[in-house]
Amino acid sequence: MAQSSRFKQALLALPLTIAAGQALAVESANLRLAHNLDTSHVVHRAFAHMAEELEKLSDGAMTVRIFPNSQMGSQRETTELMQNGALDMTKGSGSALEPFADVYSVFNLPYLFNDQAHFNEVVYGEIGDEIMASTEDKGFVAIGAYVAGNRSFYADKPIESPADLQGMKIRVQDSPTTIRMMELLGASATPIPFGEVYTALQQGVVDGAENNVPSYVQTRHLEQAGYFSEDEHTSVPDFLLISTSTLASLDEEQTELLMQAVASSEAYQQKLWDEVDAEARSQAVEMGATFVEVDKTPFQEAVAPMLDDFRANTQHGGLLDRILTAGE
Ligand code: GCU
Repeated sequence: MAQSSRFKQALLALPLTIAAGQALAVESANLRLAHNLDTSHVVHRAFAHMAEELEKLSDGAMTVRIFPNSQMGSQRETTELMQNGALDMTKGSGSALEPFADVYSVFNLPYLFNDQAHFNEVVYGEIGDEIMASTEDKGFVAIGAYVAGNRSFYADKPIESPADLQGMKIRVQDSPTTIRMMELLGASATPIPFGEVYTALQQGVVDGAENNVPSYVQTRHLEQAGYFSEDEHTSVPDFLLISTSTLASLDEEQTELLMQAVASSEAYQQKLWDEVDAEARSQAVEMGATFVEVDKTPFQEAVAPMLDDFRANTQHGGLLDRILTAGE
């Protein structure tokens, strides 16, 4: 059975054990979570919520100290620190996780989800649980998943069709699937850590990038790339990762409380997302950015071979079909 499903069952059992009015005597645990996002980023806000909840639930016995803003390095670096036991938790975008665990490549396929309901069904359902629990042999598992909107292109000119991308250097995360997608669209993909993208845009190391609207605004990338063209090529979730050694060091009660705090942060962030997205859009317009509506068809046509290639070339082809079926 998927490990995170097991956690979720423990979680459901929790109100019974605790509501009985037993005095809590939770063992103490001080966890460290490092990530690459600013404290205004909606995923950081979810982590802060999780840390607060955990402290409350454990009556102060369990704490999570958060190191934001790439203080401990890029996604790749903090994931490695976590694998080596030097860090308890980090955040991995489904893109940055691809080099660590091939199964995450599926989330980088373009136009995978029909809508938010389909995304939720997959990411917060059985398929998501299975993927999140599947990397124990890599020294970590994912225990939380977060909405990260739709990713679209931005640059100092509108990008209305793949023809506009020809020869452009586009910043991407370190994801082979995303790099392949850029090739098919005619762009040249440049993997750069999130914290270095502003300077890369400013110095012309790249001509554009791609992300969701809140990230485009929060990073002030819009100052360097004023056109956000909504082709919405991917919807890549973010994940909260924990090292298997940290998880093994927690007793059953600590694990239950952690999972309860994580579940609460997922629900909090799902609700917050639409609000944050809407706020970011109006802020972007105020700051002079232009949103460009695009016909997605030529983008979809250019990247369509990726789905068949995925089925044919990876051991996870079955997974793709399960995801597509979940949207029917
Ligand atoms: C989004 C996503 C982050 C990711 C970032 C990026 O902001 O939520 O997890 O690191 O994009 O493009 O690097």
